[in-house]
Amino acid sequence: MCGIIAYTGAEPATPILVSGLRTLEYRGYDSAGIGVQNGSCRITVTRALGVDQLAEAVAGGTSNDGVEPTVGIAHTRWATHGGVTISNAHPHTSADGRVAVVHNGIVENYLDLRVELSDAGYRFGSETDSEVIAHLIARCLKSGESLASAVRGAAGRIRGASSFVATSADEPGVIVGVRLGNAGGIVVGIGDGFHLLASDVLAILPHTDRVIYLRSGEVVTISSAAAGFTDLNGATLERRPFKTGRSFEAAAKGEHPHFMAKEIAEQPEAASSAMRRRVDFENGTVDLPEVPYSDDEIRSFDRIIVTGMGTSLHAGMYGAQMIEALTGIPTQAENASEFRYRSTSLNDRTLVISVTQSGETVDTLAAMESASAAGAKQIALVEAEDTQATLMADGTLYLRAGQEIGVASTKTMICSLTVLYQLAVYLGIRRGALSPDRARELVSDLSRLPGLIAEMIDDGGDCRRLAVERLKDRRHLLYLGRGALQPMAMEGALKMKEIAYIHAEGYAAGEMKHGAIALISEDMPTIALVPQGALYDKMVGNINEVKARGGEVIALATRGDEVMPGLADEVLWLPEAPEWIVPLLSLVPMQQLAYHTSVALGLDPDKPRNLAKSVTVE
Ligand code: M6R
Repeated sequence: MCGIIAYTGAEPATPILVSGLRTLEYRGYDSAGIGVQNGSCRITVTRALGVDQLAEAVAGGTSNDGVEPTVGIAHTRWATHGGVTISNAHPHTSADGRVAVVHNGIVENYLDLRVELSDAGYRFGSETDSEVIAHLIARCLKSGESLASAVRGAAGRIRGASSFVATSADEPGVIVGVRLGNAGGIVVGIGDGFHLLASDVLAILPHTDRVIYLRSGEVVTISSAAAGFTDLNGATLERRPFKTGRSFEAAAKGEHPHFMAKEIAEQPEAASSAMRRRVDFENGTVDLPEVPYSDDEIRSFDRIIVTGMGTSLHAGMYGAQMIEALTGIPTQAENASEFRYRSTSLNDRTLVISVTQSGETVDTLAAMESASAAGAKQIALVEAEDTQATLMADGTLYLRAGQEIGVASTKTMICSLTVLYQLAVYLGIRRGALSPDRARELVSDLSRLPGLIAEMIDDGGDCRRLAVERLKDRRHLLYLGRGALQPMAMEGALKMKEIAYIHAEGYAAGEMKHGAIALISEDMPTIALVPQGALYDKMVGNINEVKARGGEVIALATRGDEVMPGLADEVLWLPEAPEWIVPLLSLVPMQQLAYHTSVALGLDPDKPRNLAKSVTVE
């Protein structure tokens, strides 16, 4: 949450910072701001309610005294403390305007610090928690410290997970960044005659592909010529850059009107990529060298927890069902934000599998921390490279979806499910719970996935029509599913809520009679996941119950189903597919329904209100 970018070099800083903010906008878009060191060693700050407005405001140049600034910091905000106003936008400055700070995270003890600083005569210009950092730094600088030392001093006073970046008019050309805990990270871009800091490597890629990811408790000082690292006590650290595997081109919309449309269309390729060099289609096996456990260790597991948040939790719910079915090990999916605060009797025979595309969701990282403290074994499923999740896990299974920019997860969900499928088969084989024949069958089923998804994407036209004719003017929707389709119903509902702002509930169909059926009326359509399979008849029963109460039903059914056209008001067809593959396919029409509903309502599906892609605060 919140995007930070900083540049020091010889080029004009403002265009680099503004274009970096555009790349980082998915992290928050409530307001934006930029602070540049100008020719007479002052800091010029410009703030606006969004990156577009900021770009306009600085279009004339932020230069002063005829000198184009070449050093600056910038921020795009997702509001936590203080409303969406210009005065709450970052950078925040010290009272004399000589220090500017951009911050990501929460200063948990900011009220105490605010009182302490106010008593000492510091005046506050915003309602944010972040502003205390600028004053803390200014106070250290007053006593003659360097900016790096002042940043360490401020870092030592604040509580909670935070990353912040500061610059001071008293140290021309210098920018200092620090990472504390699991708030969004900072990536250092190493260039020839310039350096950058950013919340995401994507904002660095147009300039250099040599990067270093800052670890928690590390401080970096950059100038045009050098990047130096210390710990919070000032002891020098050796950090070497590496060439990132990320590509900037992947972050362009191409011919698609929105990133979400592009990312839905990329799902066949993403699913293939998640299997590459892991699934042996000829021999019908899966090999995951990233899982670093011996057969004995795998046999010793007596409990598996799959954890995550939002879409990643829904993927985990599917994964938990499949893993338990294939390994015989009791497996539960757990909401990470609850799991971290509850007493859970984990031990070294527990395997915790954490799903987090960003690798920086603070609740998931905290759940991982408590699992580590209890001695549990840990595997992470992550899209982003070199994240805190990877550092904490014994092994990381990368999702390989390619950069996902749309706030609504689509292709990373498909990849999480694809990887969890492989993990279930792999653990089943290694544990001796899955026969080679059944494993071969499951692998062969998986090989059909990319082609089946591609087929579904081509069929998307009906979703556009239904969005316009049946969904966009509704205020409430119900999504029903059973078994592994229940988490998919929850995911379908989440997509609709987050990008079309229509209240939607994802429900276990069997639960409906215990309360939710009271809501059914002609105003509340039901989207029923009713493919062929063991639970088909039960779902037909639920659909009949909805119809009997005047409810409208859109069914997702298997092509060839002769009952549904006579029963449901509309049918979206799923191709015939194996039991564990159908849930993945069911996602595609639900993503398209949400996407087209959002567009039909004139909303921007890539930037839903109040949301950000990476949730790095609690
Ligand atoms: O990066 P993560 O996978 O840990 O993110 C967890 C959730 O915030 C995320 O899945 C969110 O629910 C989706 N972007 C919604 O589409």
